[in-house]
Amino acid sequence: YRNLRVALLGGGSVGAQVARLLLEQSEELASRVGASLELVGIAVRNVDAERTVDLPKELFTTDAESLILGADVVIELMGGIEPARSYILLAINSGADVVTANKALLAEHGAELFAAADQVGAQLNYEAAVAGAIPILRPLRESLAGDRVVRILGIVNGTTNYILDRMDEAGDSLEDALASATALGYAEADPTADIGGYDAAQKAAILASLAFHTTVPLASVYREGITSVTPAQIESARKAGYVVKLLAICERFTDEHGVDGVSARVYPAMVPRSHPLAAVHGANNAVFVEAEAAGSLMFYGAGAGGVETASAVLGDLVSLARRHVAGGPGVAASSHAGLPVFDIGSVTTRY
Ligand code: HSE
Repeated sequence: YRNLRVALLGGGSVGAQVARLLLEQSEELASRVGASLELVGIAVRNVDAERTVDLPKELFTTDAESLILGADVVIELMGGIEPARSYILLAINSGADVVTANKALLAEHGAELFAAADQVGAQLNYEAAVAGAIPILRPLRESLAGDRVVRILGIVNGTTNYILDRMDEAGDSLEDALASATALGYAEADPTADIGGYDAAQKAAILASLAFHTTVPLASVYREGITSVTPAQIESARKAGYVVKLLAICERFTDEHGVDGVSARVYPAMVPRSHPLAAVHGANNAVFVEAEAAGSLMFYGAGAGGVETASAVLGDLVSLARRHVAGGPGVAASSHAGLPVFDIGSVTTRY
């Protein structure tokens, strides 16, 4: 029976839940994988910081590099660009497989990380980076790989959906609703990332890259946040039969010269009350996928939250641990089609 050494980087709300579930469900996970998954340590900035979950003190260390070098699998949940990027590259280059939920890092440096992983045959999974608990990346990458995705309409930021919902249903102000979303733990450390649409834009770049088998740079994603949405606009949308949602829209697009490409954009949009996305309330997320053969599909569930997001992280871990045990190569991380990416802004869409 094999033993896979798992190193965790980050002990925040998601990291602490991943550690708890790994410890509590170790036997069940081992039987599912065919190898035990041993949590060998949790690298954090401050070992004495308050945690949301009670975990064995001896697991914590500030020495991330030693932890990485002794691991078969590294789970990066620290967030931010550096040192997360260097740690993931160190893990890949020292022969470990990687799970990350780091949307900012993937949106900005995904191509570099995927190339590094492919070069050494390492697996790099990141289901938790988009829409929390909802399985959406593996369906795009694998289940729909034989189809042709035409468009994605996503509610991919729980904080802004919660805020718009409160403004619509309870008449709250944006400021009050944001304070509640922060208290509930949905918002980013800097909530500007949520209300400014930056978090959703990072997720749009990742979704579009996978859906269209290309690389959509974050800089090409058109972005508007919800900061200028007023209660009066929400009210008049309601009267006209619409609800305002912050949408991430990724679609195939043909430019004025007949060149096919893709576009990705994020902005507050008027969604007809009859559309399934209009029924997504609170901090929930949903990703509506339109594919040529499959037709319309909707993926719905919790888009934020520690334990919910931990589910996606553990799914990634089990998936790559199984391949590790089987000795086979993983799914290549890179996408290669190279469709042009257009920055077309909000003007050309009906939503
Ligand atoms: N702040 C993010 C959100 C967390 O509200 O959706 C999940 O990525």
